[in-house]
Amino acid sequence: MRVIVYTGKGGTGKSTISCATGIKAAEQGRDVLVISSDPAHTLMELFEVNIGPKPTKISDHLWAVQVDPIQEVREKYGVIQEYVAAVFKAKGLEETLAYELASLPNMTPFLSLLKVVDYFEEGGYDALILDTVPSGEALKNLYLPSLFGSISRKILRLAGSLVGAAKLMEPIVKIPAPSKEVIRADLKLLEKLEKLKAILTDPKTSSLRLVANPDFFSLSNLRRAYMTASLYNVNVDLAVINKVIPDEVVDPYFEEWRRSQAKYLAEAEVAFYPLPIKKVRLYRGELRGLDMLKTCGGELFGDEDPLKVYYEGRPFRLEVTEEGMELVVKTPFLDKERCEVERVGEELMIKVDTEVGEVRSFIPLPSIAYCMRLDRAKLIEGELHIYFAREFS
Ligand SMILES: Nc1ncnc2c1ncn2[C@@H]1O[C@H](COP(=O)(O)OP(=O)(O)O)[C@@H](O)[C@H]1O
Ligand SMILES: [Mg+2]
Repeated sequence: MRVIVYTGKGGTGKSTISCATGIKAAEQGRDVLVISSDPAHTLMELFEVNIGPKPTKISDHLWAVQVDPIQEVREKYGVIQEYVAAVFKAKGLEETLAYELASLPNMTPFLSLLKVVDYFEEGGYDALILDTVPSGEALKNLYLPSLFGSISRKILRLAGSLVGAAKLMEPIVKIPAPSKEVIRADLKLLEKLEKLKAILTDPKTSSLRLVANPDFFSLSNLRRAYMTASLYNVNVDLAVINKVIPDEVVDPYFEEWRRSQAKYLAEAEVAFYPLPIKKVRLYRGELRGLDMLKTCGGELFGDEDPLKVYYEGRPFRLEVTEEGMELVVKTPFLDKERCEVERVGEELMIKVDTEVGEVRSFIPLPSIAYCMRLDRAKLIEGELHIYFAREFS
């Protein structure tokens, strides 16, 4: 089974592109489930049919489901949340605030990711397509099990056998002891996270796809997602630049838009190298309904299989040593070109003198680099090696 996740800033067209991908794959006879956790019931708006929390048939080979975050929290995380909230309350926090704090960060996108595990294990589809999710932040949650992994399991199991003792301590430490049920729920969540991680880090199964518009904010948001995913071993296979003003628009009113879009498209080619990039035009009106989505699917994929793995590889590699860190980035630049690397806040700016003039590219820095200084950089066989040194103060 394939799992395809579209990510990008809100409003760039993730839901639209997910549905178009689903429709295209279904036309080719593959059974596809489009999953959404958008609170705004986007799928219903796009497909123009009622879609509930159980897979609803849209057309031949195509199903869609709207994940209900509240129900999911109750089912999967409710017990833990109750417990965490009880701990905060015991510490004197007001109840509403205690519940607020007890919610996991990025809960909604995260729950729809967990839902993937359920449908993956149930089987029956050729592909799951997720229309929302992972900001790099949500992806980070996947690393929790591998960070704490076996340690947290052992602690939890141990805690399970100590529940009786903890109950005795309760009046003394004034913190409610976790019940067996809480610990069981914790373990189940960890297990699910581990399964999810296995699914998402298998490049033959899962692909993360980037959706942006040719504008500054959606592109810079996506550069970070691209790097984060790569560092977390999630394979990114395609970038889609949506809402490109087509050539036929010659109205002088849009002149400036066309000029800036052309610039951002060129930047995208560098920023998302070596991913294939697909462009989708800005339609005359809001892209909605099966017919328009079908047209969009055709424009995107033509005769191709939309479920294929478009690219497999690691565009960013990171090696941390005692002295510092080496970041290796695949670039479209050649060795003979002169390149300069400069640090601008949380990003690296790479300036390369090419035959067509100076090209600038920005790379977001991983958090570990925040306490290091940029040392030097060099191009070796199409890869940019950037060295950082630890700051000793
Ligand atoms: N290429 C396009 N041309 C015209 N409208 C589009 C296009 N792509 C998306 N839209 C519209 O933009 C809005 C946001 O799209 P949506 O897929 O919901 O974004 P996201 O899921 O990223 O938040 C919707 O109203 C959609 O119909
Ligand atoms: Mg959406």
